[in-house]
Amino acid sequence: MAIRLHTVSHTYTAINQPAVHALKDVTLTIDATDEFIALVGETGSGKSTLVQHLNALMAPTSGTAELFDVTISAESFKDKSIKKTPIRKRIGLVFQFPEYQLFEESVLKDVAFAPKNFGLSQADAEEKAKHALSLVGLDDTYYARSPFHLSGGEKKRVSIAGILAMEPDILVLDEPTSGLDPQSQKMLMDVFESIQRTTHISIVFITHDMNWVEAYAKRVLVMQSGELVFDGAPDALFNHPELSVWKMDLPDRKKVLNYLQSQFKLQTPMDDFTQLLNAINGEGDQ
Ligand SMILES: Nc1ncnc2c1ncn2[C@@H]1O[C@H](COP(=O)(O)OP(=O)(O)OP(=O)(O)O)[C@@H](O)[C@H]1O
Ligand SMILES: [Mg+2]
Repeated sequence: MAIRLHTVSHTYTAINQPAVHALKDVTLTIDATDEFIALVGETGSGKSTLVQHLNALMAPTSGTAELFDVTISAESFKDKSIKKTPIRKRIGLVFQFPEYQLFEESVLKDVAFAPKNFGLSQADAEEKAKHALSLVGLDDTYYARSPFHLSGGEKKRVSIAGILAMEPDILVLDEPTSGLDPQSQKMLMDVFESIQRTTHISIVFITHDMNWVEAYAKRVLVMQSGELVFDGAPDALFNHPELSVWKMDLPDRKKVLNYLQSQFKLQTPMDDFTQLLNAINGEGDQ
């Protein structure tokens, strides 16, 4: 088990601000290989807070986060050396807001920063950076540009490339498709899937789009008001009676199937269009 969160709670506290209980007793495990996990939940449910516990960016207020061979707790986090473990390289986190992640003067330098910082020569780090940039669809015309003068979607791609270039053992992506046009969203999801299939690393991605959950995820986690309320297969989620309580939607394909099924008054639940068309044709023949 690569990651094991045990009764992790996180409370944000600030002077003159009410405390926010962003995570409440979250327990979950993530394997080191072959996971493709979607993390969903309404706005403010604790998703970003949760993923920041997956690579030691945040410590639990109570409970423990076992990340490979490092155990993070409120107590152990006080020891500054814990932040110097290679855990943030092994578990790469792409932030929800790319501005938090970009800081170098050029795109190429920015993406090459992490591999260089983790010991590669300048030339090797740039090779990795160029490869990562090509994966996210940015060509050499971007290399010398300032990351701060890019569009929102371009910044997002650079921040993703910056983590891919690090070649982490586990990839955690906080809303990797937000702010991108539909074609780019699919292109990036295909890149993640291909990385997962070829390298077998585990991937966790946050999304608000159930179409991506259906198309890519093997497992889905649902957060509601700081609690992990569902951990299972996407199909089990789509058929779950509390789906709307958790403010979740169905994927478009399921919506169309359900609509046609009700229009044609078909009783047996259908899971694909061939089955549905056969049933419709069958009924028409009677
Ligand atoms: N730095 C912070 N200080 C205080 N409260 C915070 C802070 N960051 C987040 N919160 C609060 O913690 C809760 C969980 O926030 P979080 O960002 O984890 O939600 P999220 O599920 O990622 O939401 P979204 O879908 O909008 O990205 C929210 O109530 C939020 O207002
Ligand atoms: Mg978030």
